[in-house]
Formats: sequence, C-alpha cells, structure tokens
Amino acid sequence: MLSLTPISIAIMPTTTPHIATRTTATQRCIDPSCATRFEINERIYVCPRCGGLLDVVQELTTDPEQLQTLWTRRLASFEARDRSGVWRYRELLPFADDAPIVSLAEGNTPIYDAPISAVYCGLNALTLKHQGCNPTGSFKDTGMTVAITQALILGAQTVVCASTGNTAASLAAYAARAKLQCAILVPRGQISHAKLAQSLDYGAAVLELDGNFDDAMRVIRELAEDESIYLVNSINPFRIEGQKTVAAELLHQRGWEVPDHVVVPGGNLGNSTALGKGFAELKDLGLIDRIPRLSVVQAEGAAPFANLFKSVAQTPGVAGPDWNDWPALTAIEHPHTLATAIKIGAPVSWPKALRSVLASGGTVLSVSEQEMADAKAIIGREGVGCEPASASTVAGIKRLVADGVIDPGEDVVAVLTGHVLKDTDYAIKYHEEKLTSDDDDTLERRRLTGTYRNPPALVEATKAAILEGLRRHTSTQDTM
Ligand code: F0G
Repeated sequence: MLSLTPISIAIMPTTTPHIATRTTATQRCIDPSCATRFEINERIYVCPRCGGLLDVVQELTTDPEQLQTLWTRRLASFEARDRSGVWRYRELLPFADDAPIVSLAEGNTPIYDAPISAVYCGLNALTLKHQGCNPTGSFKDTGMTVAITQALILGAQTVVCASTGNTAASLAAYAARAKLQCAILVPRGQISHAKLAQSLDYGAAVLELDGNFDDAMRVIRELAEDESIYLVNSINPFRIEGQKTVAAELLHQRGWEVPDHVVVPGGNLGNSTALGKGFAELKDLGLIDRIPRLSVVQAEGAAPFANLFKSVAQTPGVAGPDWNDWPALTAIEHPHTLATAIKIGAPVSWPKALRSVLASGGTVLSVSEQEMADAKAIIGREGVGCEPASASTVAGIKRLVADGVIDPGEDVVAVLTGHVLKDTDYAIKYHEEKLTSDDDDTLERRRLTGTYRNPPALVEATKAAILEGLRRHTSTQDTM
C-alpha cells in the first residue's frame, strides 16, 4: 500500500523590510455607477447589488526604485515565496505576510527572442513570454496559487471550476497541494488528452458534461452558490490578482523597459484582464511611465469579443471611458475552433477585458484556423513551441503588421499561454496534413494545409536509407 507523506503548507514568516504601505484591500464592483465595496474575505464572485464583476483594490504607497531593488534581491533568495514568480511580487497582492501560501514555484517563465517568428510576422524583432513553462504547463498556475491560498483563508472545503482543460489541470494540482477536495467540469470529448490526463493524475474529480464550456460555466456558477464550494474560474478576482503579476515579471525581466505591444489569446478573457490590471497598477505605482498597447486575438469560430470590439470601434464616441454606453457582448451559441483552450462563446470577463484593451489603445481581432496552425509550426521552429491557442498571438501579430497597426520596428511581446505538449494530437495531424477544422463547411474545404509540415518518414534499418532520409528531410525543409 502506498504511503503518502503529508506535505504541510508553510505559513511563511516575514523577512521583508517594510518599504511599501497599503490600505486594506477590498473587493469593488467594476461598474462605475455602482462601485460598491465589499470586504476582502467576503465570498462573492459578482456584485450582490448589481451583478457586476469585481476587482480587488488596494492603494499602495512605495518608493518605486526601492521596490524594484527588493524584487531583484529576491531573485537570489532561497525562501519559498521568493522563489515563486508570483509571490516574489507580493506587495501587489491583497494578503497579510502570514498568508498560508500554496505554491508550486509558479511563474519564473522565460522570455525568448524569436527571430524566425519575427520574420514571419514582418517585424524586426519579437519576444515570446512563455507562460507554458509553468508547473502544470499553462499560465493558469499564476492565478491558481493565489485563488487556492484564498480558498484556505476562507476555509473552503471544495474547490471547483469549469474548464477547457488548462484551468482544470492547474486547479487539480494546487488543490492536491492544499489537500482540498476538487471537482472540475469539462465538456466531454472537447479537451486535449494531455490536460485530461493531468487532472486525473492530480486526483481531481473529473466530471464530463455533454455540452460546451459555456454550459459548464453556467452550471458551475449555480453550484458555487453553495457556501462550502469555492469557484476558482477567472470570474474569481483572486485569480486575476495572481495572473496580473505576470506584467511585473515580464517588465522586471526586461529591466523595466516597456514594450510597445503585448498580444495575448482571448478565451474567457481573464488573462487580458489580468495583464491590463497589472500594467495599469505598475504605472500608478510609478514603476513604469506608460503602458503597452494590449491586444487580444481570438479564433474566427469563437470570436464574440472580436465582434464586440468591431462594433465598439466603429461607433463614434463609444470607445470612451463611460462604459454604460458600450454595446453588450453577443454570445456565440456554437463556438468552434481546433484550439480547444479558447473554444468559448460567452466569455465571462469581457467588460473587464474591454476596459483594459480600450485603456491601453490596443485592439481585438480574430484569426483563421490555417493562420493559427501555421503560426504554431513557426513558433515550433524557434525550438520553443506552444499549444494551438497560444499561436493565435503570432498569427494575430502578422495580421496587425500587414494592416499597419503594428510598425515593423516596434517592440512586441507575444504571450504564449500553454506548453507544446498540451496538444500533441493537433501537432502530429498538422505535420501529417490530417488536420481538419470542425466548422460546418465541406470536408475538402475544412482540411488545413500543412504549410510548414515536417512529417515523420519511414526508413529501412540501413545506413544508406537513413542518410537518404536525412538528405530528403533537409531538402524539403530548405524549400520552406
Ligand atoms: N490560452 C490557453 C492555453 C488557455 O487554456 C486559455 C483558457 C486561454 C489561452 C484563454 O485565456 O480565458 O484568460 O482569455 N483556458 C481556460 C481553461 C478557459 O479552462 O483552461 P482566457
């Protein structure tokens, strides 16, 4: 019989000098005409008064240079919370120093220069921030460490989420670390095997639903009305708090040099919300003097936010700060894309994401399945790789350069959200030219071209055959 050693959750003592003072954090309704505040530990997901989404707010007063120095000093520390790329920036988070942090040393994700992708996009240079290098292989970990810490503070017993796979895998891992019961609701047959396998291994109760992500999200919100159940989808503002630290880590890695553009994929729109909040707060703190333009890319078959943005951008005066004038998002009933991570028709956080995009001067667009698939193969050629949804960024940047929205000389960062091993079926099918999109078109029209394909070749077990295989590979790859 397997004996498990209990892992205690460290309540970490403070060794941090107090260089920042802050007001008590609260939760606040994002609708400016409501703006009601609630206590930080009130277990709510939306405003009980008007149903609006919630922000965590706190005022921080600090010397920006001292804060930058402190964060840099922590890079050489062996203290567990300093080793986390989220908790290293804990001055930005709404927790006391003795918070029961649940961490897997998340964050600390690399930035790579990507010369092949840059040429592909028509840029002089391009940087990839690879959030797929998190412990469970996606950006979700940076938010989950904070949401699960808050779950412990609230005394929750069961943590739940609806997911297209990555939130599920991340929640399953962090719930296991915190010894919390965990249930994840996923659309049956619509999430990658790798993500499903992770959730099973981490011990979550995996509940498969006949329906899509939006159905799962609706049901899980009903379930979370029960007091003992804590919902950790990105509607939960503590998820956003964790994910916003990626803005700090990115800028820290760049010596606080602000890029001109940051481009992210858009699904439920938590990530774009979080990055927007992160950049805005760093500017308010005086750590940077401007914010990057934040742009969001969706898949054509699942692009309700891109559709909304088009109508916002085309209506004179609407793109202003008075968001009561904004048109509402029209949900897509049957979203479709092979990038299953972002197969979402009714994104929950759209008002927050729209606020972030408009405040930054960014844009929202959608790209085709072919554009995404080719961009993914190009990112692979960097020796970097990513899952399909992440490649929407490079596909979107290529479009924005072609349309003159991004200048070839501008400083651009694409955020890759998931690891290449998250969806190996997709990659193999692309390279063998067996990838077909799941829209209603004819099979012939649905088949994607393996523009940058690199299929495996069967060879005889002889030296001559292998050398010939190598020669053939080199000649086919050279012609690309
Ligand atoms: N990229 C990946 C790899 C994702 O898994 C997701 C979302 C997104 C991008 C979109 O981010 O929702 O913050 O706009 N995945 C969620 C999930 C929905 O359940 O794993 P978003």
